[in-house]
Amino acid sequence: MNPTNQGDPLIVIVSHRGPFSFTARRDGGFKLTRGAGGLVTALGALAQKHEVLWVACALSPADRAWAKLHEARPERVDGVQLRLISPNLQRHRLFYNVIANPLLWFIQHQLWDIPRAPSIDRNTWKAWEQGYTWINHLYAEVIAHTLADEQRPIIVLPQDYHLYLLPFYLREAMGERVHIQPFLHIPWPGPDAWRILPAQIRNSILIGLLSANRIGFQTDKDAFNFVQTCRFYLPDAHARGTRDTITYRGRTIRSTAYPISIDVQKVEQLAEDGRTRQHRAAFSEYLSGRQLILRVDRIEPSKNILRGLQAYRNLLESYPEHRGQVQMLALLVPSRLEVDEYQDYLRDIMGEAGLINAEFSTSTWEPVRIVVGDNYARALALMQLYDVLLVNPIADGMNLVAKEGVLVNLKNGVLVLSEHAGAFYELGDHALTVSPFDTYGTAEALHQALTMPEEERLARANKLHDIVKQADVNHWFHAQVDDALNDLSSHARKSSTPGTPGNKPSA
Ligand code: G6P
Repeated sequence: MNPTNQGDPLIVIVSHRGPFSFTARRDGGFKLTRGAGGLVTALGALAQKHEVLWVACALSPADRAWAKLHEARPERVDGVQLRLISPNLQRHRLFYNVIANPLLWFIQHQLWDIPRAPSIDRNTWKAWEQGYTWINHLYAEVIAHTLADEQRPIIVLPQDYHLYLLPFYLREAMGERVHIQPFLHIPWPGPDAWRILPAQIRNSILIGLLSANRIGFQTDKDAFNFVQTCRFYLPDAHARGTRDTITYRGRTIRSTAYPISIDVQKVEQLAEDGRTRQHRAAFSEYLSGRQLILRVDRIEPSKNILRGLQAYRNLLESYPEHRGQVQMLALLVPSRLEVDEYQDYLRDIMGEAGLINAEFSTSTWEPVRIVVGDNYARALALMQLYDVLLVNPIADGMNLVAKEGVLVNLKNGVLVLSEHAGAFYELGDHALTVSPFDTYGTAEALHQALTMPEEERLARANKLHDIVKQADVNHWFHAQVDDALNDLSSHARKSSTPGTPGNKPSA
C-alpha cells in the first residue's frame, strides 16, 4: 500500500464474504455487484473519511478470475482498495462447509442435537487443520505482505466467526504495530456451549482472538460471555480482571458491545423506490384486506422458521376467527444449501407449510405462502405492509429485519420478537416478546398483535421507529473506529514493550 500521509490510519476490513461480487462480461471485463449487507453500506461513509483496504475471499469463478488479475496489489473498486484471496477450492470447502458452517455457527447459535451431533471425527480435524487454520493463515500472509511498507497506523477489523485465528497469525507476522479489533456478528454463548470443541481447537480459537487488542460484540451479554469463556478455559487468563477486560500473557484485551444497525437513509430511500412501489401495489391487491403476518429470513435453522409455522398453526386452531382473515407470508432467502442441515431444514419448512395449507385452505384462501428468492425491493414492500412482523430466532446476533421492518412499516404493525435476538435489548420494551421455543406463547402473541387496539399499535410503532432512527450503521462503525483510534493513541503514549502472543494455534 501507498506509504503516504503518516498521521491518518489505514483501515483494513477483513471478511469472508466481500463487499462486491463479480460476474464475467463477454468483453473480458467484470460486472460489479455491491452486497446489500450493513457492513457494505456503512463503508460508503467510512471510505469518505478514511483510506480503506478490504480483504475478502473470492467466492465464485469470476471472483477468482478477478483476483488472479489483481494478485500483485489491491485494486481500487468503488472507493475501496480491494484484495481477494483465492484459496484452493478443497481447502475452502473444508473451511466453510465443515468448520465455519455448521460447526462454529451451530455452537454459537446452540443448534446441535447433542445426543447425535456433532461428532468431531477425522474429517473435522482435517478440516480444522487443512481448511480453517490454513485459510486464516493465508489471510494473515496476504495482509502482512500487502502492508509490508505501510508507514501509517494500521487498524485491522476482522469480521465474524470465519476469522478467529487471524489475529494470532497477524500479530505473529506484524507484531504490535497493527491494532487488531475483530467484530463478531453472531452470538457468543457462555462457557458451557464451547465444551463441544476439543480443548486444542477451543483454546486455539480463544488464544487467536486474545491476540487482538479489542473485540467487538453485538450485545453486552455476548461481550461478557466471551470474558467468562476465556477465564473458564484458559488457566492463565487473568482471574481478577474486570467485567470487560482480560489480561492475558502481559496484554490487556477489551471486550466491548457495538450493536449493529441498518443504513437508515438508504433503507428509507429504497422503500420509496419505483420497484418497491410496484411490489407494494401488487401485494396490497393480493392481500385484499386480509391482515398480514410477515417473516423475512435466510433459510437458516437458527431463524426458527419451523416453530414459527407451528405457532401459526396453533393460532388458526385456537382462534378460528382469524381463518380467512389473515395471511402469513414467509420470504426466505436461499443460504448455505451445500450444508446438509440447511437442505433438510428447507424440506421440513416446505412440508409444514404444505400441511397447514392442506388442513386450513379454502377455495379462496391459502393460509401460508412461502416465497423463496432474494429480492430486496419485494421484501421492503412487504415490510411496509405487515400487521405483524414475526422475528422468533432461537439465537441471533442482532437481526436486522426487525430494525428494517419497524423503520419502514406504514401500518403501525406489531413486532413479535424473540428474547434471544440481539435486537431484543434495544427493541424488546415495545415489541411483544416471546420465547422462541414456546409455540403456544408465540401463537398467543400473534393473536394479541392481530387484535391490538389501534392506539397501542401506534404508540409501540412510534417508539420502535424512533429507536432505529437514532442509531444507524454509521454510528456502529464510527464507534468502533473511534475506540480503535483512542486505543492507538493511548498505546503510543505508553509506548510499552511488545507483548507476547499465546500458544501457536494448532497448525
Ligand atoms: C450472517 C453472518 C455473516 C454472513 C451472512 C451470510 O449474517 O454473520 O458473516 O456473511 O450470515 O452468510 P454466508 O455464509 O452466505 O456468507
